[in-house]
Amino acid sequence: MGNKIIITGGCGYIGSHTVVELLENNFEVLVLDDLSNSTEKTLERIEKITGVKPQFIQVDLKDASKTNAIFSKHKDAKAVIHFAAHKAVGESVNNPLKYYKNNLYSLLNVLSAQTENGIDNFIFSSSATVYGTPKILPITEKNETQRPFSAYGNTKKIAEEILEDLINSSDSFAAISLRYFNPIGAHDSGFIGELPSGIPNNLMPYITQTAVGVREKLMVYGTDYPTKDGTPVRDYIHVVDLAKAHVIAVKRLINKKQDEAFEIFNLGTGSGFSVLEVINSFEAVSGIQLKYEVTARRPGDVPQLFASTALAKEKLGWSAEKSLDEMISSSWKWEQNLRALENSKL
Ligand code: UD1
Repeated sequence: MGNKIIITGGCGYIGSHTVVELLENNFEVLVLDDLSNSTEKTLERIEKITGVKPQFIQVDLKDASKTNAIFSKHKDAKAVIHFAAHKAVGESVNNPLKYYKNNLYSLLNVLSAQTENGIDNFIFSSSATVYGTPKILPITEKNETQRPFSAYGNTKKIAEEILEDLINSSDSFAAISLRYFNPIGAHDSGFIGELPSGIPNNLMPYITQTAVGVREKLMVYGTDYPTKDGTPVRDYIHVVDLAKAHVIAVKRLINKKQDEAFEIFNLGTGSGFSVLEVINSFEAVSGIQLKYEVTARRPGDVPQLFASTALAKEKLGWSAEKSLDEMISSSWKWEQNLRALENSKL
């Protein structure tokens, strides 16, 4: 029996780490990616790690007929893991239609193509952004969702609602939505990691780029939040821990082990760290003093987010294993490796 999984966005940050974990669990993988924010070289780097080069098709999933044509040739796939999406929060506020078109057309085309071709299992790449500004911490999956501040965040919330409706209409379609907290870190091999294009929006790549001298200094967005040291608190999670959760979730779907046709899990560590704590840990791990300056709050940032990890532990038997220092040291190793990697044949 085949065990093919279709991974959209498999050349991207979380997608590529998940491809590695799937290959190491003997799954067959088909990667679909438009390479709009990633590189095909990632596939060779995955081969370097796993010994297997995943099958790859470059496609824009906004194109319904091309998407359909691919899925009709891969009806034997057991599940789809859908990572492909735009993810720059600030850009989505300035250009919401780009985000609604890309993230939602792609989702609708994938769901149509897979259900028309009898592929009934779907894993969705969601985000803690669907909780908005949480009233209760830690955040359980029962926390109410709120309309996210950004169009990016809203595409995640709308996508979950679309999935709910699709599941209610079907006897066979099943999905798991994984709500990520703040993924950072990179593969231990140093071959894959986050590849932000242009100026990074997120904290960790900004820190590592500042430390190597690509950016002049880090701006700390606000020290007047009601938190332990005035800077916002987030639940940072190692991308490899996150990737492993996808393997468990896909097995749960394929083996029909769900309690309900649509399940939602938070993926975090349950621990919150402030921006200043992350900076301090980076300095301790790297031995570098980071240049930073405190500036005004960034619109849309919430004071504190951290996950309740109880449900993922109970139902998936998964919990994050890697510490903040491991996350930071792997991100740092990746940043230092990157230029050498870009100048090599890989
Ligand atoms: C954001 C998105 C989240 C998305 C995640 C990964 C929202 C509300 N959050 O999370 O949905 O999944 O990115 O793409 O839409 N910071 C600085 N200086 C910087 C960068 C960040 O001080 O240069 C601070 C921010 O104020 C924040 C923390 O670092 O408190 C983390 O920021 P970031 O890495 O961008 O993640 P989130 O905003 O939490």
